[in-house]
Order: sequence, then structure tokens, then C-alpha cells
Amino acid sequence: AIEKTFSIIKPDAVERGLIAEILKMITDSGLKIKGMKMIHMDRAKAEGFYAVHKERPFFGELVDYMISGPVVVSCLEGENAIENYRKLMGATNPANAEEGTIRAAYGIDIQNNSCHGSDGPDTAKTEVAYFFNDDELVG
Ligand code: CMP
Repeated sequence: AIEKTFSIIKPDAVERGLIAEILKMITDSGLKIKGMKMIHMDRAKAEGFYAVHKERPFFGELVDYMISGPVVVSCLEGENAIENYRKLMGATNPANAEEGTIRAAYGIDIQNNSCHGSDGPDTAKTEVAYFFNDDELVG
């Protein structure tokens, strides 16, 4: 089925000038960009986004990292978009990511892993709505 998913190009990748490279990998994979913006999250926004991880030992560092610089958030659409985008990103830890994936190409370590993608249909809906109003999505 045609699905929407949510993507973040994270601060490590934006900082290194990799926005265009990563967007090219995304669009070359067949995913369509339905909405996109560059933002610099404040702490409350990042904590809310990663609320599911708040008991994890890495939560504090994760939030510090996600607010350390601007990110590019987007809503992507395509056949089986959620799973296809996760495959395109590769494993969370770039050291384990398959060749040809975004994280294998550009990820630095398990935290500075260059991109985020929704992990399922429910989170995809919640995450798109956390950053985009309906009138910010085309089509
Ligand atoms: P993401 O897919 O955005 O989901 C949670 C993020 O936490 C993850 O990518 C990484 O950027 C970060 N992170 C840092 N340490 C860990 C860890 N040990 N396990 C999983 N995620 C981690």
C-alpha cells in the first residue's frame, strides 16, 4: 500500500553538508517528498519527539545532540514507504549498516547516525503530525 513516513536528516549530516546527498538517495529510491523543512529544535520539542526513549541511558545525550544544530524534517510517501525507508537508512549503528545505505555511507556512530525514520504505521502518523500541519503537505 502507499504509505507516508517521517524522516529527519540529523545534525551530524546537516553540519557536514550532506543534505543534498541524502535527499538524492531518498528520491533515487523512489520515495516522494510530500513536505519538508529545515528547523532547529528546542529542548522541549526534541524531548517530546523522543519521549518513548526517556528512560533510556542515552536519552540526555540524544536530546543534546538533536538540538545541537539544524535538522531537515520531511514527510515521505511511496509503496511500502515505512519499511523501504528503514532499509534505505540501514542499521541504527552505522558499523552494522549494509553497503548502499545512508548510515553506511554517512553515519559516524550509533548516536550520530545521520538520519531517522519512523518504525511503524502508528509512529509514522504521530511523527508526521508532530512536525507538519496538513496544509504543509502537498497533494
Ligand atoms: P533513531 O532511529 O532516531 O532513534 C533513537 C536514536 O537514539 C537513534 O536513532 C540514535 O541516534 C540514538 N542512540 C544513541 N545511542 C543509542 C543506542 N545505544 N541505541 C539506540 N539508539 C541510540
